[in-house]
Amino acid sequence: MAQTQTYSQMDEWNAVMFLYNSALKQVSTKIDILSEEFVHVLNYNPIEHVKTRIKSPKSIVNKLKKQGHEVTIENMLRYIHDIAGVRIICSFEKDIYKIADMISNQDDVKVLIIKNYIANPKPNGYKSYHLVVSVPIYLSDGPVETKVEIQVRTIAMDFWASLEHKIKYKFEGNAPDHIQEELRECADIVDMLDKKMFSLNEEIRAIGQEQNQEEQSGWNIRGAGF
Ligand code: GTP
Ligand code: MG
Repeated sequence: MAQTQTYSQMDEWNAVMFLYNSALKQVSTKIDILSEEFVHVLNYNPIEHVKTRIKSPKSIVNKLKKQGHEVTIENMLRYIHDIAGVRIICSFEKDIYKIADMISNQDDVKVLIIKNYIANPKPNGYKSYHLVVSVPIYLSDGPVETKVEIQVRTIAMDFWASLEHKIKYKFEGNAPDHIQEELRECADIVDMLDKKMFSLNEEIRAIGQEQNQEEQSGWNIRGAGF
């Protein structure tokens, strides 16, 4: 009897993980398509790269316990939003909103939670745009809405977050004060870098557009002479 119970729970676990893996594939494909469209149609790709991950069973159990919930598959489905995770790294802050909107506006994407840590950075300096969405996974007996956490950030924000994560892990959440202060300073520098790189890029783009217009008008004038 106990063995039957174990097997059925294993089956349920595998079925749930299959859903999260499928949702991750689906969201990744959406991002790939947007990315390719940017390259082919607009000749510009705001998406630098994309990372995906499935949360480990150990982290799922720890998070449920930390939240004070009993460790069950039902609670995991209800309370853990980031079992399937996608991280989109962009060049500039402006691209973050563009990409988040493009994903959110797709008919089969339901936006469940938005956390804008760019407009409202965390006290430690963390910046990123988070979305929890659900997408329908079409199984043989119908669609199952499945959650995916999408984090969108710039290269500079990602650099900061990965260092901060390493430090947090190393000191088990209790980094010395001076390290925390320096991280906060770095967050301000990241912010400044993002803004400067953006204005530089805008300037370069404006020059590019002027040149394009000149080339275009040159072509027209020559063309008119034929
Ligand atoms: P978590 O329990 O950390 O998942 O937080 P949450 O459920 O309240 O959601 P939140 O949107 O705050 O964070 C979700 C995810 O964003 C985390 O799992 C991390 O990947 C990332 N994140 C949030 N805050 C920080 C931070 O201060 N530093 C770093 N490096 N990453 C963060
Ligand atoms: Mg998380």
